[in-house]
Amino acid sequence: MKRIAVFASGSGSNFQAIIDVVQSGELKADISLLICDKPGAFAVQRANAARIPSFVFSAKDYSTKEAYETEILAELKRHGVELVILAGYMRLIGPTLLREYQGRIVNIHPSLLPAFPGKDAIGQALAAKAEWSGVTIHYVDEGMDTGPIIVQERVRLDENETRESLQNKIHAIEHKLYPAIIQVLLTQGGIVNGKKTSTY
Ligand code: GAR
Repeated sequence: MKRIAVFASGSGSNFQAIIDVVQSGELKADISLLICDKPGAFAVQRANAARIPSFVFSAKDYSTKEAYETEILAELKRHGVELVILAGYMRLIGPTLLREYQGRIVNIHPSLLPAFPGKDAIGQALAAKAEWSGVTIHYVDEGMDTGPIIVQERVRLDENETRESLQNKIHAIEHKLYPAIIQVLLTQGGIVNGKKTSTY
C-alpha cells in the first residue's frame, strides 16, 4: 500500500474526506502522517480520531523554514512517504522539501489558477465579482500556486453568492475530486492538464 502524508493548517475537511475514502476501501492508500503547523487546528483532532500519527509544529519555534522543513523531511522519510498531499496547508513549501519531493507534492486550491492565487481565493473571487471560479489541483513548485496543473473544475458564482455559499460549493467539489485524483496519481502516475505524463 502506498504511503501518503497530508499537510493541513485548519479544519481539515479535505483531510477527513481522504480519511473517509481510505477507511471505506475506495482509496487504496496508507495515510501515514499528518503534518500540521497550527497546534490547535481541528485537523489534529481528526488525525487522533483516525489513529493517524501527526507531526505538529509552530514555525515561530524555528529560526528558519529550512530548520522546520528538515524535521518534516525526516518524518516523511521515517514513515516512507511517497506522495505529499497539501490540503489547506497555508505555507509555501521550501527548497528542503522540494529537493526530495518535487513532482510528488500536490496541492488543492479554491480557484481556477492562475486566477486568485495565494490567500483567501474565495474572498478574491467575490471581490472581483467573478462569474466563474472553481478548484485546481496542481503539482507544487517553488512559486505561490504556480506548479503544473493536474485538473480543474469550474463553479459558477450566483448573483447573491456569499462567502459561505461559495465555500460550500467548493468544498463539495474538493471532497470528491481530491480523493479521485490521489487514486489516479497512486495507481497510474502523473497527469498534467488532464493528460497522462511521463514527467511525474
Ligand atoms: C480548502 O478549500 C483548500 O482549497 C484551501 O483551504 C481550504 C482548506 O479547507 N487551500 C488554500 O487556500 C491553499 N492556498 P479544509 O481545512 O476544510 O480542508
